[in-house]
Amino acid sequence: MTAPHPTVTPLDLGGRTALVTGAASGIGRACALRLAAAGAKVRAVDRDVPGLDALAEAAPALAGAVEPHVLDLTDLDAAEQLAAGTDILVNNAGLQCVRPIEEFPPDVFHTVLTVMLEAPFRLIRGALPHMYAQRWGRIVNLSSVHGLRASAYKSAYVAAKHGLEGLSKTAALEGAPHGVTSNCVNPGYVRTPLVEAQIADQAEAHGVPPERVLADVLLKDSALKRLIEPAEVAEAVAYLCAPHASFITGTSLVLDGGWTAH
Ligand SMILES: NC(=O)c1ccc[n+]([C@@H]2O[C@H](COP(=O)([O-])OP(=O)(O)OC[C@H]3O[C@@H](n4cnc5c(N)ncnc54)[C@H](O)[C@@H]3O)[C@@H](O)[C@H]2O)c1
Repeated sequence: MTAPHPTVTPLDLGGRTALVTGAASGIGRACALRLAAAGAKVRAVDRDVPGLDALAEAAPALAGAVEPHVLDLTDLDAAEQLAAGTDILVNNAGLQCVRPIEEFPPDVFHTVLTVMLEAPFRLIRGALPHMYAQRWGRIVNLSSVHGLRASAYKSAYVAAKHGLEGLSKTAALEGAPHGVTSNCVNPGYVRTPLVEAQIADQAEAHGVPPERVLADVLLKDSALKRLIEPAEVAEAVAYLCAPHASFITGTSLVLDGGWTAH
């Protein structure tokens, strides 16, 4: 006897509350809009007020709702509190600094680790009691190819992303008996302000003209020679929240144009 084949239906997150960090820009904005389009009520968290305002203006036509929350994620206690009661947590906020280790400012290293590793830990910690109580939860951690591979001059970012991979897997093991999955999504270079902002620093660190950075540095190891769009990454995040992804946990969904095939 063959098992019944599940029917594929459009993603319906009606009645679910999602929290997306870094929702004012780039991938986080795309995730907030995608989850709201699927019917979720989205807590959009960022420190960028104009960015959050612009997101809220783009959202009213969607099935769900976007609730802006202005928060600097270095306020770890506030972050943990805000995560209480969420069904879906997307740890996305991030920042980049490109410098050789011997010149890397220690305070920036500390901030990167705080926002990109410690805040996700505190947000997961805040979200789990409700997820466990209802026996359903989805944690999606925006990692990167840099969660799996290193690049020179990105010590804090690579360290934070490798740490996030470990945190995500640990949450998967602990969450499994409670109906909670935890996964990473690992894009290559995405067309966002975070990438645009590092062109000058990459040019200086690698000694190439700024107009060569995309081809000679960023896309050097990618088999597909283009940036990936934020909406493509948001679709992967949405996929991990769908019923058909309920057996996917503790893994990393790599969207890297073939970079890690090397
Ligand atoms: N752009 C890429 O090429 C790329 C590739 C792989 C992974 N990622 C990851 O995707 C995530 C989003 O990146 P993006 O490219 O959309 O970046 P982005 O710069 O467009 O957006 C990041 C958002 O995080 C917010 N943020 C930063 N520090 C914060 C803080 N202390 N408190 C609150 N909000 C804060 C910013 O205000 C911004 O809105 C990051 O974790 C990044 O590492 C990006």
